[in-house]
Amino acid sequence: MLTNQGFNLWSDNYDQTVQVSEENHLYPFAGYKKILNTIFNEVMQKENSKVLDIGFGTGVLTSKLYANGHQIDGVDFSSKMISIAQSKMPNANLFEWDISVGLPPEILENKYDSIISTYTLHHLTDEEKISFITDLIPLLKKGGKIVIGDISFENRGKLDKCRQESIEYWDDDEFYFVHDEIKSSLPYPCEFHSISHCGGVFIISE
Ligand SMILES: C[S@@+](CC[C@H](N)C(=O)[O-])C[C@H]1O[C@@H](n2cnc3c(N)ncnc32)[C@H](O)[C@@H]1O
Repeated sequence: MLTNQGFNLWSDNYDQTVQVSEENHLYPFAGYKKILNTIFNEVMQKENSKVLDIGFGTGVLTSKLYANGHQIDGVDFSSKMISIAQSKMPNANLFEWDISVGLPPEILENKYDSIISTYTLHHLTDEEKISFITDLIPLLKKGGKIVIGDISFENRGKLDKCRQESIEYWDDDEFYFVHDEIKSSLPYPCEFHSISHCGGVFIISE
């Protein structure tokens, strides 16, 4: 499991690593652009909205939302990722914080139209994911939604198949979403859109 120092070291060539994996339709980033675009389109349904991004990284998705007039708050534990993202979004409120201990107090005072997260929550165990996502619910405005894009599978069989196909570089320290297994424990109904053989989007709303 990568620490914040590991993400600091990865930050300068993160976008390039993603691109190579994405373009070759490989685990872990096959479908990356489509996943980010799906979330972009969901958030864009409301103009000038307030958005929280959990683990924004280099700000690939949030900087597009920022450029389209949305107000961005974000949390990430890598100082280097934060400086890359902040340079693209000077007025965004970006907090250096480890989500394994919850959310920073400044964030807990706010309400959001959309809470988004891409390729970050697989660092939490399923139990931690459920607890973390449940704690996001009070931060939603009426009609707000949580939209998560990540390495994810409809069922355990699909995850096992992907693992076999990608065994040389599969990361056994990460905890990928399996829709069948997690959906009944989530606080609100959850739609799952499978986008690639290893990625998809969850939309959680009242
Ligand atoms: C794989 S990158 C994804 C970045 C971006 N959301 C994207 O889709 O390209 C994961 C991001 O989550 C952050 N992250 C991982 N674990 C974290 C934790 N426990 N607390 C806060 N941020 C974390 C990393 O620093 C990194 O920026």
